[in-house]
Amino acid sequence: MVNLDKLLSQMTLSEKIGQLNLYNANVFIESQAGITGPLVNAGLTPDDLYRVGSIHNYNNAEEMITLQEAHLKGDRNKIPMLFLMDVIHGYKTIYPIPLGLGCSFDPELVEECSRMAAREAAAGGVFVNYAPMVDYCRDARWGRIMETCSEDTGLNCIMGAAQVKGYRGEGLDRDDTLASCVKHFAAYGGAEAGRDYNTVELSEHILREFYLPAYKACIDAGADMIMPSFNSLNGVPATANSWLLNTILRDEWGFEGVVVTDYNAISELMVHGVAENGKQAAELAFNCGNHIDMVSSNYLKYLEELVKEGKITEEEIDNAVMRVLKLKQKLGLFEDPYRAASPEKERSICLTPEHRAIARRAATESAVLLKNDGVLPFSKKIKKIALIGPYADNNKLLSWWRCHGENDDTVTVKQGVEKMLDGAEIICVRGCGNECGDTDITGFEAAVDAAKQADAVVLCIGEHGEYCGEGNSRATLGLPGVQLELATKVMAANHNTAVLLFTGRPLAITELDQEAPAIINMWHPGTEGGNAAAELLFGKANPCGKLSVTFPKEVGQCPIYYNHANTGRPKTKADGVREINRSNYIDCGNLPLYSFGHGLSYSNFVYENMSISKLNMNKNETVTVSVTIYNDSNVAGKETVQLYIRDKIASNVRPIQQLAAFKKVSFDAFERKTISFAINEEMLRFWNNENKLVSETGEFEVFTGYADHKYFSENFRLI
Ligand code: BGC
Repeated sequence: MVNLDKLLSQMTLSEKIGQLNLYNANVFIESQAGITGPLVNAGLTPDDLYRVGSIHNYNNAEEMITLQEAHLKGDRNKIPMLFLMDVIHGYKTIYPIPLGLGCSFDPELVEECSRMAAREAAAGGVFVNYAPMVDYCRDARWGRIMETCSEDTGLNCIMGAAQVKGYRGEGLDRDDTLASCVKHFAAYGGAEAGRDYNTVELSEHILREFYLPAYKACIDAGADMIMPSFNSLNGVPATANSWLLNTILRDEWGFEGVVVTDYNAISELMVHGVAENGKQAAELAFNCGNHIDMVSSNYLKYLEELVKEGKITEEEIDNAVMRVLKLKQKLGLFEDPYRAASPEKERSICLTPEHRAIARRAATESAVLLKNDGVLPFSKKIKKIALIGPYADNNKLLSWWRCHGENDDTVTVKQGVEKMLDGAEIICVRGCGNECGDTDITGFEAAVDAAKQADAVVLCIGEHGEYCGEGNSRATLGLPGVQLELATKVMAANHNTAVLLFTGRPLAITELDQEAPAIINMWHPGTEGGNAAAELLFGKANPCGKLSVTFPKEVGQCPIYYNHANTGRPKTKADGVREINRSNYIDCGNLPLYSFGHGLSYSNFVYENMSISKLNMNKNETVTVSVTIYNDSNVAGKETVQLYIRDKIASNVRPIQQLAAFKKVSFDAFERKTISFAINEEMLRFWNNENKLVSETGEFEVFTGYADHKYFSENFRLI
């Protein structure tokens, strides 16, 4: 093992500062090819290449190996570079977007997907994953909602931790693993009006209760890095937010890993208007706790000067460098600077049948049957089926952050259905496009024609894959283009129609819901999307996803989320009935189109009863709630049983419902099971107005069902 203290003591200040910088691979690759443009633009000299500590945005193992070799030749200290990448939902075998994975309510599956991604990415020369992204978000307009698992903090904590575990596998000393960089700290998903990068203003107790726990859960699960967010939080950009990075992260949580800024975020401090120039921005960012500068070059340019001027201490530089060196050591880089990187291994390990099977299972478990008036599942004996819509024969199912996933490796709905149905006639018509502003209706006639001829229709519609993710905010949440018109015409021509919805965010599809006999929300399902869709359509897989996020009726309801407070003037009448001087809309109900936790099945799960073990509990006791469920159908299936709690009286306003626990349970046909949940005092805690995590005595309601839908409810008291 390299003695890191000794190594640090041998490094010059300039070499130390080099370790605190991260660059795009192209800067290096092009300069090696004699192209100096990117180097000059980054303010670098050829010699700088040997002192830079980290790199990202390279293409594969081959490139990574070349870069590391070249670097090590020139670095007299022989400190390997760190290689990082955004492997958000798969490396080459792409599985559903994280928001979809959240709907699986299956942390083991999420861990398995992450393990697969780590195996592939490690062979591709990745050491650190810029994931999990666990930004809490209540607003579907924000395109990056696709990257997070849920609008529920608890579920987001569980799924974030599952990702960290999956990436890390049996430990970072094993080369088929990835270290995690949790992001974006903090509250990036609270952007005003859902517009990316926008201002965030939040009270501290709301921040602590809803926004911060998932970052902490990922750190507790072993994340070694963290990335501050682009946004300002209560007036201070996260990158320059000493309260976040020093007070909370370092002092309160004791985080000992590495803080890497987001892309060019130090320079953006000037655009935010909190730093006059790059030097001041570097000083601010460093003193606020950022160890690595992602691509802005301000550290490389100014840290040395700032140390000489006494604005930054060398001791703090040493502390930051030591954190970076420790991570490199933990990853085993001093022994093997390439870890699992190997072009042959990368080729052989990616997209194997085993990996495709995991991605397919993840896609079926993430899909949510939003509506079914009985048309689904379709019979496999069908003679003629029409696949209609822009997603019918479209391999763009990977979504944003597809890493090295290729459309050409992706199974389309058409291919999936072809494989599923032996000998049936399949008519496939695009009908129209799926981009905003598409007005072309020339394909409608052929679509209606196909619908009329077919025994059954699958309408494959939704949001374009480039409409979610970074920078892709929307002010409307309908189906882009003329897809709704297409759907209306097709459904009028043939009512035996099921909709496959492809999307990166909740959509406000109220009219579609009214007209469509059945809707399966596939999200953006990844490489095996078409196979998963076919399995669900024909009942080879039984839908079991539950929404991890609320679907609004109208965009004007945003932000809309299930665990909202009550107000002093809540509605008293049925949703949609207008009440004067009550908290409601004139032109829309308060309830969402589909609630958090909603999701149907081909099985028929009947909640028969619920019992509670005691009506009073003291702080050291637990209350057991038992729910009996009967699968009243001849179809085996899975049901995610959800338990919600409401703290009825407290010192600050509490949500009307909060998911307290869930269990995903398998049922055989006609099977009855009783599922029990233990409620303890810890589950009743919240952040009070003094920003303390407390539980308060008094009455609580507990119910089973899903958001806004109580099957059974009981009250108990904490005494
Ligand atoms: C994104 C991060 C990402 C980084 C590096 C930024 O634009 O906000 O999520 O990890 O780029 O690719």
